[in-house]
Amino acid sequence: MKALLTLSLIINSVIFYNLSATTVVKCHIYKDPNAPIEKRVRDLVSRMTIEEKISQLNQRPLGFNNNANNVSDVIQKIPATIGSLIYFDDNATYRNEVQQKAMKESRLGIPIIFGYDVIHGYKTIYPISLAQACSWDTTLVQKASAMAAMESRRSGIDWVFSPMVDVARDGRWGRVAEGYGEDPLTNALFCEATVKGYQGSDLSNKNSVAACLKHYVGYSASEAGMDYVFTEISNQTLWDTYLIPFKAGVQAGAATLMSSFNNISGTPASSNYYTLTDILKKQWKHEGFVISDWDAVPQLINQGVAGTRKDAAYLAFRSGIEMDMASNCYQDYLAELIAEKKISMKQLDDAVSRVLRIKFRLGLFEQPYTQVLDSSLILSQPSKKIAEQLAEESIVLLKNNKKILPIADSMKIALIGPMVKDKKNLLGSWNAHGNESDVTSIYDAFTSLYKDVNYAAGCGFDGIDKSGFQEAIIVAKRSDIIFLCMGEKSEWSGENASRSSISLPTVQEDLILELHKIGKPIVLILSNGRPLALSRIENSCDAIVEIWQPGIAGGNPLVRVISGKVNPSGKLSITFPFSTSQIPIYYNQRKSARPYQGKYQDIPSEPLYPFAHGLSYSEFSYGAIKVSKNEIKQGENITVKIPVSNMSNIDGIETVHLYISDPVCSISRPIKELKFFKKELIVAGKTVVFKFEINPQKDLSFTDSNGKTFLESGKYLFIIKDQTVEIELTN
Ligand code: GLC
Repeated sequence: MKALLTLSLIINSVIFYNLSATTVVKCHIYKDPNAPIEKRVRDLVSRMTIEEKISQLNQRPLGFNNNANNVSDVIQKIPATIGSLIYFDDNATYRNEVQQKAMKESRLGIPIIFGYDVIHGYKTIYPISLAQACSWDTTLVQKASAMAAMESRRSGIDWVFSPMVDVARDGRWGRVAEGYGEDPLTNALFCEATVKGYQGSDLSNKNSVAACLKHYVGYSASEAGMDYVFTEISNQTLWDTYLIPFKAGVQAGAATLMSSFNNISGTPASSNYYTLTDILKKQWKHEGFVISDWDAVPQLINQGVAGTRKDAAYLAFRSGIEMDMASNCYQDYLAELIAEKKISMKQLDDAVSRVLRIKFRLGLFEQPYTQVLDSSLILSQPSKKIAEQLAEESIVLLKNNKKILPIADSMKIALIGPMVKDKKNLLGSWNAHGNESDVTSIYDAFTSLYKDVNYAAGCGFDGIDKSGFQEAIIVAKRSDIIFLCMGEKSEWSGENASRSSISLPTVQEDLILELHKIGKPIVLILSNGRPLALSRIENSCDAIVEIWQPGIAGGNPLVRVISGKVNPSGKLSITFPFSTSQIPIYYNQRKSARPYQGKYQDIPSEPLYPFAHGLSYSEFSYGAIKVSKNEIKQGENITVKIPVSNMSNIDGIETVHLYISDPVCSISRPIKELKFFKKELIVAGKTVVFKFEINPQKDLSFTDSNGKTFLESGKYLFIIKDQTVEIELTN
C-alpha cells in the first residue's frame, strides 16, 4: 500500500526541466502555477492528513475583535495549518508575519485566507448599502466596491464578508441598514454589481477580493424585528423573495456565502440541507464554500436541534457548511465524526477542496503575502470622489413644500440638532476602518458655503433633557430658515440593534414641534440607518431631506443639494411607514381578497413615503406608456417606451421604475413586481424616451415553491408611476 501511495505521489509530481541548468526541479502539481486549478486541488488534497484537512475548515479571530456582539478569546497559538483568520488590523504587516508562519511551519505550506467585514468601504467609507440602493446606480456601486476591494486587498484582506443581500421589510430590525432594501430585484442587481466590483475578472489580481453573500438565508424575516430569532418563511416566499439576490450573486460568481443565524420555519439556516446543499450546490452548482456566521454552529444547541457541540458540528457540516467561524466545533469534533463514519472522507475532501479552490483562485499559493501598500492608494482622490458622488445620488428629497429648497446663499441659517456637528454617526454601522476624522460634519459643510450660520444643539439623540430647547429657539428666531439635523446613532442599526419603534426619539420630535411654533420655514435633515416613521412631525416640516449615513462625504453632498449645486435624484429603496404599527408594509405585498376593505380604523393604511418615492428640483412629466404590441406569443419580446419631459428650467436626473403585475396566475403573485429601473439625465425643457425590452421568459415568469420558473399565458400589466398598460401573452 505504502509503495502504491509513494508511486501515486511521484506520478502526481510534475518534473520541471530547467533549460538553463542541469538540475531538474521537481515539485508537486499543487505548487505548479501553470497546472489547472482542479488538478492542483486534487493533488493537494491527496497529500493532506485528516488533521490538516480539518484545520482548513476553521476560522478564528486574529487580534482585537471590533464587533462587540461577538465575544471570543483571542487565540494565543495560531495553528500554522488553520484555514482562515478574521483580520482586524488595518495594515498588512502582522498579517504577513502570520502568513509567513503558516507557509514555513506547515508541512504543505497552505496559505491562510484573511477575511474581514468590509460592508460599505474599507477605509474610504461609502454610504450604507440601504442608501446606496436609493441611488439606483449599480454602475457607481460597482466602482465603489472595486475601490473597497483595492483598499482591502492591499491592507491584508483577501475576503470580505459582503454583500449583505437580505431582502428587508421590517425597519425595527437593525440590519436593514446593511442590505439594499425591500425589493428582491433591487437586492439582486446591487448584489451582482458589488460582487463584480469586489472580484473583478480575476480573483488573483492584487486589487480583487473574494465576496461573501450573506446572510444565507431569510435572516431579515426575523419575527417582530428582533435579531437572531425565528423566521416563518414558506418555500414559496423563500424562492420568490429571499433566494433571488443569492441566486444572482452565485450567478455573478460569488466565491463564498455565509450561513445565517435564523431558524427557517423549524430548520435553522445553519443546519439546512435544503438551502445549503440541495439548492446551493446541487441546483446552483456553487463551486466555492459556505462559512457559518459567528458561532452559528454551536448556536444550533440554543435553537433546539443539537444536544451537544459535537451534534452541532455534525449537523452543520453534513448540511453543507464548509467552514466554522470562531466556534472551533469543527476543530474539536470532525475527526471523531469521521472515525465514527458519521462523516465520510469524501464529504471531508469535498469541503476542503472548496476552500482550497478559492485560495488557488485568489492566487494565495503564488502570492501569499500582501504586497505592502502604497499608502497613497488608501483614501485616494478617486475613491473619495466616488464616495461623494454616491452619497449625493443616495440623498432622497422626501418633501419640498413651496419649493423652499434650494436656498439662496444670503440666507440667515439656523443649524440645530444632534447631527449638526456629529461625525462618527455619519459613518453608519459596520464602518470597518473608517475614521470620523475623515468625515466632513454637516456644520463644516454648511459654514464652508454659507456665511450667516448660527448653531445650537437643541437636544441630544435621545433622553429627556430639554434644557437646550431655549437656546435653540433663540437661534431659530434670529434666522430666516431652520435646518433641523436629526437622526440616529450608528449603533442603533446594524447587528443586535433592533428598536421597538422607528420614530425619531421623542425629545427630537418635541424639539421639532417646539420650533415649528416660531413660524419660520423648517427643513428637516435626517441621518439614519433604517426607514423612519415621521407622521408626528411631518406636518411641522416644510422640507425633509434623507441623507442616510453617508460615510466620509458627510455633509458635503447635502450642502450641494441644499444650495442647488446638485439636483437631488435619490428614490427610496424601502418604504417609510406612516407608523411602526403598519410594519410589515412594502410595495410588493400579496394581493388582498378585498383591496378596498380591511384597512385600519385608527390610522391611515398607506405608508407616509412609498418605495421609489423621491422628489427633484426639476418637474418631470410622464407621457403615455407605449407597447410595441398588445398581444405576443411565448418567445417574442416586447418593447415598452415612455417619454419623460423635464418641464422645468433645471437639468435633472430621473429614475423610471417599470413594474409588472400578473392579475391571474396559478400562484397568487405580489400586487406588482419591479422588473426594470433606468436612470437618465433629462435636460431642462427636453424629453427623454425611456425604453425597456421585455423578455417574457425572464421578466414575466414566476417561481414556484420548488424554485421552478414558469411562464403562464394570459393578461399582464406593465406599470409605470400611475399608468398601466395591458398586454396578452398567448401560447
Ligand atoms: C457577525 C455578523 C456577520 C459578520 C460576522 C463576522 O455576527 O452576523 O454579518 O460578517 O459576525 O464579524
